Formats: sequence, structure tokens, C-alpha cells
Amino acid sequence: MSAIDLVPAALVHAELLAGMHRICFADPWSVRSMAEVLAMPGTEGLIAVDDDAGPAGLALWRNILDEAEILTIAVLPPWRRAGLGGRLLSAAMTGARSRGAAHMFLEAAADNTAALALYHRHGFRRTGTRKGYYAGVDAVTMGCDLSIKA
Ligand SMILES: CC(C)(COP(=O)(O)OP(=O)(O)OC[C@H]1O[C@@H](n2cnc3c(N)ncnc32)[C@H](O)[C@@H]1OP(=O)(O)O)[C@@H](O)C(=O)NCCC(=O)NCCS
Repeated sequence: MSAIDLVPAALVHAELLAGMHRICFADPWSVRSMAEVLAMPGTEGLIAVDDDAGPAGLALWRNILDEAEILTIAVLPPWRRAGLGGRLLSAAMTGARSRGAAHMFLEAAADNTAALALYHRHGFRRTGTRKGYYAGVDAVTMGCDLSIKA
């Protein structure tokens, strides 16, 4: 069985990350948008790399003082339902906590059952709704107290 490592994402990975985004999202970020996000102060990220097959997933988050926001998280279809999304999310939470974040927040489309279940499983709870945020689909906002999540 192959191993999957989580390696830090940097600006040089913008094209690779945008390529993965294209596979995972109906409205993916362009290479330029990805590069802009990676260049924002406080942005950190991880790329999951399968040592046999290459890039398998990504997570980007942003640290802002004592808060952190998940910017995007995705796992390529062949690697789904094997715990990689959870691994990336846990690593993002640990990374943000190590930078002093006490709270993490995110948003997801209200019809994205996989993402909502993943977040709930990792301690995120619903904090609100943004009506029609994603081309007519509501966004669910969620938050997690990092101080009580090991
Ligand atoms: C959401 C996503 C990152 C989950 O990645 P993953 O590697 O499959 O997640 P995991 O295997 O770690 O799943 C952890 C838990 O999340 C939940 N979950 C994941 N996929 C699910 C699905 N399709 N349906 C229901 N629950 C799901 C389950 O509770 C699962 O635990 P279980 O497999 O023991 O039941 C992946 O489906 C994905 O990349 N989707 C497209 C991009 C996306 O929507 N990103 C989130 C944007 S907000």
C-alpha cells in the first residue's frame, strides 16, 4: 500500500493546486486566483502526495490573529472516503492552533453533504447561513473552538 505525505504548499505550487481544484470543484479557482490566495499574508497550505501516484489532495487556510479560516479543502476522487480529507483538516487545525488560533471557521454549500459531514465529524458546528451565496445555493457557515479539539 502506498503512503501519503502532507507537504507544505507554496506559491510555486499554484498551477498544481489549481489543476486539482479543477478536478474537484464546479467553479474552480484559476491559477492566478490560486497564486493570489497563496500570496496573501497568513495563508498556509498542505498538499497530500501519494508516493506512488502523486498529488491526491489539498488544504489551504488563513491565519488572522487568533482566528483561522479554511479557504479550500479537496481530495481527488480516487482517494476519497479513506480518511484523507479528515487528515488534511486535522493538520490544518493543528497548524492554525500552533500559530495561535483559538477559533477556526469555514463555509460550505448547503448541499455539500460530504463536506458538511466531514466538518461536523471534526468538531465544527453550524453558525449561520448565507442565502444564495453559491450561485443560488445557500452557504452554511461553521466554526470550531480549537482550544477544545486535540
Ligand atoms: C469533502 C471531501 C474533502 C472529503 O474528503 P474525503 O477524503 O473523502 O473525507 P474522509 O474520507 O476523511 O471522510 C471523513 C468523513 O466525512 C464524511 N464524508 C466524507 N465523504 C462523504 C460522503 N460522500 N457522504 C457522506 N459523508 C461523507 C464521513 O463522515 C466520513 O467518515 P466515514 O468515511 O468514516 O463515514 C471530498 O469529498 C472532496 O474533495 N469533495 C469535493 C471538494 C469539496 O467539496 N470540498 C469541500 C468544500 S467546502
